Amino acid sequence: MIPFFGGPSVFNLIISIVGCSFLISYTECHCPHMMGIKPPGPPSGPSPPGKLPDGDEGWDYDETAAPGIVPEPHYIQSTYIYRSPNVQEKTFSSRVVNVLKDIRTRLAKSARLTLENENIECSSPTDHYRCQEYAATGTWNYLIVEDQQKGAITYTFDRKYNEKNDGTIEMALLDAFSRHSPSSLIAFASQEAEKEVGYIRALTVQEMDSLSGKPGHRPILLEKFGPNELNLLEPALLEVRTGSELKLTSESLKRIDSTKEFDKLLDEYKYVFILFWTSNRMVSLHTFNLWSRVGDKIKVPGDTLLAHVPCHENSEFCQGLSAEDYQTVVSYRNGQNTGKTENIGDEEFYENWIELSILGPIQKLSNESELSKFKKGIVNGKKRLSVTIGVFPSEQDTSFQHFQISAEKLAGKYYTSYFINENSKPAITTYRHSEKQKRTDYSGKFDPASVMEFITKSSIPSVIDISTGFTTEILFYQKRPILILFGEEFEPFLKLSARQDARKQYIFTKISGENKNIQKAKEALGVVGNEPVIVLLNKDRVHLIPVSKPKCPDHLQKLLQMISTSEADKVLSTKDPHPLRFLQVERVNEIFGFEETIVLPDHTLFMDSDPFSRHPAISESGGSGGCPFMQGGGAGGATEGGHHSEL
Ligand SMILES: *[C@@H]1O[C@H](CO)[C@@H](O)[C@H](O)[C@H]1NC(C)=O
Repeated sequence: MIPFFGGPSVFNLIISIVGCSFLISYTECHCPHMMGIKPPGPPSGPSPPGKLPDGDEGWDYDETAAPGIVPEPHYIQSTYIYRSPNVQEKTFSSRVVNVLKDIRTRLAKSARLTLENENIECSSPTDHYRCQEYAATGTWNYLIVEDQQKGAITYTFDRKYNEKNDGTIEMALLDAFSRHSPSSLIAFASQEAEKEVGYIRALTVQEMDSLSGKPGHRPILLEKFGPNELNLLEPALLEVRTGSELKLTSESLKRIDSTKEFDKLLDEYKYVFILFWTSNRMVSLHTFNLWSRVGDKIKVPGDTLLAHVPCHENSEFCQGLSAEDYQTVVSYRNGQNTGKTENIGDEEFYENWIELSILGPIQKLSNESELSKFKKGIVNGKKRLSVTIGVFPSEQDTSFQHFQISAEKLAGKYYTSYFINENSKPAITTYRHSEKQKRTDYSGKFDPASVMEFITKSSIPSVIDISTGFTTEILFYQKRPILILFGEEFEPFLKLSARQDARKQYIFTKISGENKNIQKAKEALGVVGNEPVIVLLNKDRVHLIPVSKPKCPDHLQKLLQMISTSEADKVLSTKDPHPLRFLQVERVNEIFGFEETIVLPDHTLFMDSDPFSRHPAISESGGSGGCPFMQGGGAGGATEGGHHSEL
């Protein structure tokens, strides 16, 4: 019931993201034990292997089969993209499409190769967004093949060398696919093709560059944290606590002590959320305390289970977990891993995350009244800070499918829905009911990467309230200067923050209220008195602007530009604690009770990226790399959305 790593379930997960050439990122798994399964080796129990992929006849599980002839399961994604301006070329390309279809079925059956192919015709410039990457005139046939080792390679093959019969086409294609497979696929050619030779070759880098004559892709910039993740707790601040007052028992969470029990519960419940924790680590201890409070606080439906595995008493079960895994809650649906979060937040954070996991990555709105409710931000009976809605003419529309892929990659973070209206052009809008600018319409291309960028950027508040703390990486380890408004609402500041161009340049935050740690932060920034003031914090440079100065947003923008080149009002020392750290300490005390802790100076907070980060920076795909079942987002619901294949 638990899919072993590399098993078919991984394939199901990947299949649904076809057509999306940048999304493949499972290479190796560092954490097979997160699911409580044993390291790869001889099968140790009666546990059956995962579901066989469609078309797999199961012979590969036959232990009596001769060794050596059993290929490793493998996944390749390809795109056949072509321009066929005349009948002769059109005939050829439709033959290629058919041969690809045959090859795909055959390789799945006999070579354990999952080949996902998308066919894209580029006859008119409006056809498909990917056509824009290629010449708008002439005749061409490209096969883009991608696997997790080599990345994407573009092959070219011409009609005149390959049109002799379907066998030559087949051999040309198999030649290209073989270069992305652990062993040659020529052995799996059809009888008809066996004696033929096809001609295909990879494009050189120079040829690639000159394909469209346009400059390369601009980098995709995703916001790493969703609206629910703006005030996460900093593990380093938990590390220095004693934890002596923490309650470490739970009446509401189900305790799991063995793999057997674990399997049984995954079978019994539709949704399972589990924290593996250990009392030997301060961060994990605090995470467990929170998780047990979540268990006490929220009412989950009968098909949902919140559980924990105390690893200090089950070392075998938890073997191989890394430090970060002990603060990670993992989610399962129908026995399959669907996501995880290593973020540590308050009870509400976990509550929202659980709810988002159960809702799934995207919801269909079936009528106008549901649409209007969602627009108001009401999801599951509660008002949400931001929601994103796509309206599409049909579910077959490519733009919808790409929207769906984006939502799946961002699963667990955003409230996303769609509505089908035959008479509508594709449109995506984010609504934030409590903001000055309540509605943001999308105007870019409908490729998954751009859509993801839009969803992540349009969903977070224009001004982030950091009075009670903030997620470390939102303000630290990044390039943009931080603007902090001390005091109540200030119109020019709010208006400027609503502008996209300004938000690209600065991060807008505000601090209101009073407490000892806000006082410490103010002092450290050199803010005196209680007059409202705007602080421009550019790494260690502090500039102050009294709010009596700027008259309007444009004026404020000018002032900001001017002072950023003038002398700072104060220069922070990296030998002192960072002023904003005090706000995070306040938050930790608020949640776990006051402890007198030492706030350590940390010069890395001034750097552009975290030198000790255990996580790779978020990739263009939005996935976190590493092990697929430890992947946050992405995996969730992926198995339900797989209708993107155009074969
Ligand atoms: C809209 O759809 C929902 C869910 O399918 C349903 O409960 C509701 O009655 C429908 N409303 C209208 C006005 O048709």
